[in-house]
Amino acid sequence: MRRIDHIGIAVHDLEEALAPYVEGLGLEVTHREVVDSQKVMVAMLPVGETNIELLEPTSGDSPIAKFLELRGPGIHHIALAVHDIEAALARMEAAGVRMIDTEPRPGAGGTMVAFAHPKSMGGVLVELVEGSHH
Ligand code: CO
Repeated sequence: MRRIDHIGIAVHDLEEALAPYVEGLGLEVTHREVVDSQKVMVAMLPVGETNIELLEPTSGDSPIAKFLELRGPGIHHIALAVHDIEAALARMEAAGVRMIDTEPRPGAGGTMVAFAHPKSMGGVLVELVEGSHH
């Protein structure tokens, strides 16, 4: 475990949500991508060693669309960088942590990711991410 890779924030409209981060805070968007496996459009803004990840749903059945419907815009998940996601998954399962993903799946920027269930993580959706170059 090296660091917090990013903090995911669910938004209705990426362009609108970006303005205060870019114009207000002076952050820069270094990466944009549509992640089909999660039905989201993401924008990554580095903040030191970590990133803010803004997420807009690309479909009504996206997990982000459901989150927005239930809770409104806000912090959606915290992503932790791991060296070996298979090993990290095995360790989580051995520790009895309930996982949403039992197999890694493709994330943004060519990474592999897996989500742990908030019920096991103090109410926080935790993402494990391998292969981030930030
Ligand atoms: Co993420």
